[in-house]
Amino acid sequence: MIVVTNTIKVKKGHGETVAQRFQSSKGIEQSPGFVRMEVLFTENLEEHDELKVSTTWTDKASFEGWVNSDSFRQAHAHRGGQASGTADGKPQESVMLGSQLSTHRVLVSRQAVE
Ligand code: HEM
Repeated sequence: MIVVTNTIKVKKGHGETVAQRFQSSKGIEQSPGFVRMEVLFTENLEEHDELKVSTTWTDKASFEGWVNSDSFRQAHAHRGGQASGTADGKPQESVMLGSQLSTHRVLVSRQAVE
């Protein structure tokens, strides 16, 4: 199994709002080899807010398949927030400050017993 995380830096105070956009699925569950996804809010940062989007896959090829799929493209069509605009129609300044991808091999995994 592999865990691929995308760490998204956003302006202070905007983390929870950006996280809400992940509540409605854009279809990742249908992707072959997908195991689970979590959106993590990093606590105790001073300068900015940070979300880690953690995705677990059976193997690397499954993750790459999703990244190259229409599902991924659709989920990221408005990733910066610029396209959303404001009530008066002016483009909105993005709250996104950057993002970084990390890939991890799962070496040990345990789960609570039922
Ligand atoms: C510049 C890089 C990226 C940014 C700023 C970004 C940001 C976002 C945002 C804001 C959404 C919510 C979509 C919406 O509001 O419609 C989203 C969806 C998502 N992103 Fe990214 N993303 C980036 C790249 C990636 C990468 C490389 C991954 C791989 C781990 C990833 C994982 C996800 C997942 C799992 C979803 C939800 C998909 C679903 O529900 O089907 N993102 N991303």
